[in-house]
Amino acid sequence: GPGFWGNRLHDWQVRDGRINCILGNRDRRTLHKTNTTLRGNGQDFTLSVRTGIHAGQSSKGARSGFILGAGPSLDWRGSLLVHDGLGRDFGVFLGIQGDGSAVIEDMTSGGANLLAAGEPQATLSNNTRLDLTAIYLSETGTYQLTLDAFDLNNTFRSRATAEIPSDQILGSLALLSHKGANDARFWFDDFSGSGNALNPEPNRHLAILGTMYTLNRGTLKLTAQLPPLDLTDSPKLILEIRKEGIWETIASAPVDTTDNLSSYNASFRVLDWDDTRDSEFRTTVTIDGSPYHWNGTIRKNPVDKQSISVAATACQRITDGKIQNNGFDWSPVLLWQPHTLAFNHIAKHDPDVFLALGDQIYEGQPTPEDSGTNFNRHHDYLYKWYLWVLQAREITKDRPTICIPDDHDVYQGNLWGEGGIFTNNQNTGGYDEPASWVKMVERTQALHLPDSDPYNPTQPAPPVAQGIPTYFTGMIYGGVGFAILEDRKFKTGSSNPPSDPNQQFLLGTRQKNFLRTWAEDWDDQELKCVVSQSPFGNIRTHAGSGYGFNLNDRDTNGWPTHRRNEAWELLRLSRMFQIAGDQHLSTFVQHGINRAADAGFSYTTPALANFFPRAWDPINNSAGRATSVSPYKGDFFFNGEGTLPSGEPNLRSQFPHHLRVLAAGNTHQYYNETRNISPANLHDRGAGYGIIQMNKANRQITFETWPLHADPDYPSTGSQFKDWPLTISQTDNDGRIPTGYLPVISTDYNPPPVLKVYDETNDELIYAIRTRDNLARPPIYDNAKTYRIELSDGRIFTNQIPVTLPDDASINSFDALIPRITPGQSSLLRWDINSGGTITLNEDNVRSFTIDGIGFMEVSPLETTTYTLTINGTISQAIEVQVLQLPPVIDPTAATNNSQTTFSSPYQAGARAEQFMIVKSTDLINWSPLPAASFSRQTNGTTITAKLSSFLTSYPSVFYRAEWKMGTSR
Ligand SMILES: [Fe+2]
Repeated sequence: GPGFWGNRLHDWQVRDGRINCILGNRDRRTLHKTNTTLRGNGQDFTLSVRTGIHAGQSSKGARSGFILGAGPSLDWRGSLLVHDGLGRDFGVFLGIQGDGSAVIEDMTSGGANLLAAGEPQATLSNNTRLDLTAIYLSETGTYQLTLDAFDLNNTFRSRATAEIPSDQILGSLALLSHKGANDARFWFDDFSGSGNALNPEPNRHLAILGTMYTLNRGTLKLTAQLPPLDLTDSPKLILEIRKEGIWETIASAPVDTTDNLSSYNASFRVLDWDDTRDSEFRTTVTIDGSPYHWNGTIRKNPVDKQSISVAATACQRITDGKIQNNGFDWSPVLLWQPHTLAFNHIAKHDPDVFLALGDQIYEGQPTPEDSGTNFNRHHDYLYKWYLWVLQAREITKDRPTICIPDDHDVYQGNLWGEGGIFTNNQNTGGYDEPASWVKMVERTQALHLPDSDPYNPTQPAPPVAQGIPTYFTGMIYGGVGFAILEDRKFKTGSSNPPSDPNQQFLLGTRQKNFLRTWAEDWDDQELKCVVSQSPFGNIRTHAGSGYGFNLNDRDTNGWPTHRRNEAWELLRLSRMFQIAGDQHLSTFVQHGINRAADAGFSYTTPALANFFPRAWDPINNSAGRATSVSPYKGDFFFNGEGTLPSGEPNLRSQFPHHLRVLAAGNTHQYYNETRNISPANLHDRGAGYGIIQMNKANRQITFETWPLHADPDYPSTGSQFKDWPLTISQTDNDGRIPTGYLPVISTDYNPPPVLKVYDETNDELIYAIRTRDNLARPPIYDNAKTYRIELSDGRIFTNQIPVTLPDDASINSFDALIPRITPGQSSLLRWDINSGGTITLNEDNVRSFTIDGIGFMEVSPLETTTYTLTINGTISQAIEVQVLQLPPVIDPTAATNNSQTTFSSPYQAGARAEQFMIVKSTDLINWSPLPAASFSRQTNGTTITAKLSSFLTSYPSVFYRAEWKMGTSR
């Protein structure tokens, strides 16, 4: 029920109005009260509960009663895990032992230290009422605790009294059932309390644990995660949005019942979502007549933001050591749930999109895997999944989340999905847990993703083997296309794969078809990337706690090699880079297919908390930690033949491929170093998260890897990993050297059109990309063919023959996209040149801004400035950017080139709203009024605002401003 957290989830069951602990073979099951805490305000309180044994037998060691002050130094989401292993900060126990006597035990410093015990009883009543009275003694700063036990007839049975320091009540409040020697299982009922020390925590009801959503092409998909609840009367969730202060219901959804194995989430799919503004939402479930809410914000689609930021996480261990062992320390040193440091720091980046790339849970954390029965496996997973939901919910409630499960999420150490088949041996490929359970896992994590396999004419997309659905898809958000792949589901098993390479797979045929169509689909996108579990390469040389050396890890996507190459060819079609997790080792690599670095880049996030470290140290070809730092950046080739020229690193692998390594976040542990931050096991194993900034204006992408301890607001607390940040251009994701070029494409269309180049001999797409700022010289990699160019503005050029650039240097064109600006605004300089030599702009080297002979640079001069482009030091051309002072506008709003701007002006009685106009200009000199239908006006009595009705893209050739057109008559 709401307000409780059970350890474990499946160790507690509500039956006949009571809650029963139903596990008899483990110690100290606890049921935490989440929505009430005890505050140390020096106030008195009482607690009461009825209890008895419903299964098993009593013994002297059995216990039932209250725990106060569990895990006081933990975040509340961590303290509610306190159970089983006795250790520091377990709390204070007050209850009865198996002989019926009242007992108070201090478990705050390890072990159970008896503070007080009442008279032993002949028997344990099977219906005992426990009354706890806690009186604050101000002169000593202590609580006087009195625990009385009564039987069913209200007959007093036993009393224990003790005095404890008042701060020992701080922490989580729980009920405890401890089995003793004869597997006693206790029931509880009528749990109540009173007094000012009891602090209600209404936001910790856990009736809805959290939400995730995506927004794609006008469709909102949102899931709300619930705890297990009674599905017999078909509970429904409602989704409301707040409009002018009023909550308005927009959808309702049932709780999942698929396969009678509920994922206990409800899934909303809302079409025609207005993504032009932030929408406050709440989800509501009604339990026993009481509504419970979880709120968030569906953010406005940030299409007008210049840079889209993405936070990427993967692989989070939540404990160091076994919580079921006595001696476990219930403090943040050993219990890392809920990774507050990491998630607080991620929140400070305020990412536009959040990625959870796999291993959101580990099957052995925080408790050992329990797949003993279908019931146990179901709830064992949910118990672990809920912990992740609680970690991430403050992030996921306010921005789109791409969450994809990896191997550990489906209780496998490795996963070669083999198209979804069942297996008894994961190495030969397939899933070794029941399909219905795998499907349930995928529903909890990925049900809110956009519809899978979106170009497949069959919708919903067909499942794979055992009826397991797919979730690979695309999400278009903020002008960025995110291709979401599940790179495990189709992959061939590693052990005894078919000898025919055509029968070995990495991506599935349907995924490859999706990527081909995706490459040509540039609607509302300026940049594209791929998000998946593991990078397409073998980017690790050492692995595990002993850092064993092995270049042949088929769990990496370096295998099968030909399929890995094929994947990079598909990504190259639309200049995509890859964001991945899985490896626990942050790397940044340009991949090679036929030669070094002729394909795109992969960025791998570090583990958020790492227990299986990996390292990239190809020069050190022996196992164990490094004795010194060897070169690890540069071009490396896994050589299948084992015949490398002398002097090259000895990378004899069964799967040859090229890697150009630009960064690798090897752990401090690998180099026998330390960050000197506690806990070392968390901070010295390369833990952290990634931030990717995608700048649409200059089409550059910056990759950052952050350690957990560095607060991005306070640089003195730490900085990014040593090799980061790194920046690439979108076009760098095709690393081939052009053999020739097609003619320069120039256009006045706004936004810049999509350019697609096809091989005319076989109609194959060579690549597709949205041109930048209306100028492109399409590169070609085979001069022996003819090509067709298709532009999204409708123009088609057939029979195009590639030409090589002439040897003699020349400036073909040089201009400013906006020749006149106002102070504070920017113009874009563009040039088209032939030269392999030096390129300077007013003395600055601009070679890196010049790709395929086409260059762009944004400038923001404050006064009229002349720009001189010079190549090879001799050939020059100059242009002027004029900076104008605008004539004063009547309202306070200056001209802007952002069509999303809201213009406002004081509105005086008697003024006529229709006289408030938006005017536009392309040269800042001649202004013309926009037709009234193309913008909206609103008055609130003292202010009038005007805004364009639709988002008129794009950078930056049209200016708008608002004016009062006084004096015109109707
Ligand atoms: Fe992992």
